Amino acid sequence: MKDKLSRFGVSLEGELLRRFDAFISKEGYSNRSQAIAGLIRKEFVSDAFEHGGQVAGAVTIVYDHHKREVVNKLLDIQHDHGTIIISAQHVHLDHDNCLEIVAVKGPGAKVKALADSLKSVKGVKHATLSVTGAGK
Ligand code: NI
Repeated sequence: MKDKLSRFGVSLEGELLRRFDAFISKEGYSNRSQAIAGLIRKEFVSDAFEHGGQVAGAVTIVYDHHKREVVNKLLDIQHDHGTIIISAQHVHLDHDNCLEIVAVKGPGAKVKALADSLKSVKGVKHATLSVTGAGK
């Protein structure tokens, strides 16, 4: 069920508003209301990280599967965090490199701990965590 929209007035200095409008067109928001809502949600997501609220997102890692033990270690870590992993997709990028996208949902602190563990495995070349609110 969708909440009814409420309107409220916002007063900003001219320079700040010009920068905000430039930000809106750069980020592809269709209007100021949508941009403000996006910024507020983003702030709530970082708050959820700090206070244990629910987040959803993806950990993306790139690694060389020839490196000793890297595949086993990545699998061990994922099995240890099974409760927050929704799915994992594996892509064989080229002869050496694999890309893995691990979809996650759960308490912010646990999601971050999983991303940090995967990132710290020797042989992992890139790791990013991207999260959003868990739909609330
Ligand atoms: Ni592969």
